[in-house]
Amino acid sequence: MSDPNIIEHLPENVFSRSDTKKFIDTNMGENAKNFALILKDDERLIGHMVFHKWFAPDTHEIGWVINPLFQGKGYASEAAYRLMEYGFNSLASHRIIATCQPENVASWRIMEKIGMRKEGHFKKCIYRSGKWIDELFYAILSEEWIKKFEQGH
Ligand SMILES: CC(C)(COP(=O)(O)OP(=O)(O)OC[C@H]1O[C@@H](n2cnc3c(N)ncnc32)[C@H](O)[C@@H]1OP(=O)(O)O)[C@@H](O)C(=O)NCCC(=O)NCCS
Repeated sequence: MSDPNIIEHLPENVFSRSDTKKFIDTNMGENAKNFALILKDDERLIGHMVFHKWFAPDTHEIGWVINPLFQGKGYASEAAYRLMEYGFNSLASHRIIATCQPENVASWRIMEKIGMRKEGHFKKCIYRSGKWIDELFYAILSEEWIKKFEQGH
């Protein structure tokens, strides 16, 4: 989060050391909105996953940030799939949503790989760094998840 390239498509600004400490402190415990992503082999921290309640009841939002040294290895897709299982099976989520900018191909590829549908392409709906940018909106319902990934297994 201290890398300007990484936060290009995120609402946050570049993190300082104290921003990072605050981020960690506010993301511990039951109301955590973000989860650390750790490699099983050597317990290295390689990024974080966003997963929190959204505005509507039983609805959650998912997101992802991976250290560039560890990108392109399928880690975000794997973690996203597991968080979707957690949402639908453990939290009884009704609907999980995700958003990204159209040029963030890796991000919307993950959304499609975990079975989400594109529900909208909002034109110039976000004002960031002095310009208006587009946003893609993806979602999946629990019944769609079951049909796609769990039925017959
Ligand atoms: C988006 C991000 C989390 C992807 O992490 P990752 O671990 O590299 O993702 P994966 O390895 O699981 O790859 C996901 C898919 O994107 C594709 N992909 C990865 N990088 C890509 C790139 N630069 N351009 C196009 N496609 C790309 C992969 O090929 C894969 O698709 P495939 O299985 O069909 O081949 C990572 O690029 C990142 O941290 N970006 C900066 C933060 C950010 O923008 N987060 C999302 C905000 S909405």
